[in-house]
Amino acid sequence: MKKIAVFTSGGDAPGMNACIRAAVRAGHYYDLEVYGVVRGYDGLINGNFIEMDDRSVSNVIQKGGTILKSARSEEFRTPEGRKKAYEQVKKFGIDGLVAIGGNGTFTGAELFYKEWQIPTVGAPGTIDNDLYGSDFTIGYDTAVNTCLAAIDKIRDTADAHERVFFIEVMGRDTGYIAVRSAIAGGAEMAIIPEDNNNIQAILDRLKNGISNSKASHIIIVAEGDQPGRAAIIANEVKKELPALDSKVTILGHVQRGGAPTAADRVLASRLGLAAVEGLLAGKANVMAGIIDHEIVYTPFIETITKRKPIRTDLVEIVPKLNGRNYKKDN
Ligand code: F6P
Repeated sequence: MKKIAVFTSGGDAPGMNACIRAAVRAGHYYDLEVYGVVRGYDGLINGNFIEMDDRSVSNVIQKGGTILKSARSEEFRTPEGRKKAYEQVKKFGIDGLVAIGGNGTFTGAELFYKEWQIPTVGAPGTIDNDLYGSDFTIGYDTAVNTCLAAIDKIRDTADAHERVFFIEVMGRDTGYIAVRSAIAGGAEMAIIPEDNNNIQAILDRLKNGISNSKASHIIIVAEGDQPGRAAIIANEVKKELPALDSKVTILGHVQRGGAPTAADRVLASRLGLAAVEGLLAGKANVMAGIIDHEIVYTPFIETITKRKPIRTDLVEIVPKLNGRNYKKDN
């Protein structure tokens, strides 16, 4: 292995730059030539490669977004697109790839390896924390902290006006961001896709709170497969409790930006290094992750097909920390 290339793909996540930096610097530490691919798989297809030196990743560890840009490539989904990418990889003499991204990124990498056998090692970069093979993904901690800053502010106005706030957070079909933000933000409920929360259950909990003199409520809603879900739930609740003064806040893409937290910078640095060391150790078609503080490599096929279940003990913290008001049998 003499030349490697690193790229970011899919939704950007804070800490991706720290991971690029780690891959570039580690590559040089091990005497490799390192290229950056601009715009993810589209850059691979179009031969958008730039040689990276140590200075090209100076001053990026603290920055959100990705200096290599990102894209959700339609063309790479096709065999023709992947063939073009292979031709570019060969043209530049690249021996191995470091792919920083999520589910879609590794689905592409899995196909690419099967068809063209270019070794790829991934690093999990997504705010959703939904990848099997790593306890945490790069960007998740920062996204939760961004949610928390917003929740704290909303709490002030919710309290002042004695209102109910439905705050929608990202996470695709998982409730990781919602549950962690709800615990840290002291919310009354986290409505997550894994929980099949029905409107009646939400109404019951709200009524319990109101009858126990609770004046304001913070309810975190995971977007699930339907962004805008918080507004739908708020409307349903309003039909049954018309006197309730309720508001909806959708946090949206603000969750994807900002300076990565220390936890994300350390995670990204460890995983960028692990990806390069994985390639050097002859690994291919695997994602570097951290489980119980240790680096592990999980085949792409497992990261994309297996589900990482949300911990039920975490989910149960939210109602339990609302005490008597939210007892299931109240
Ligand atoms: O996967 C990261 C994520 O931010 C999800 O939480 C969200 O559902 C999705 O990407 C939004 O994607 P886009 O930026 O393409 O609209």
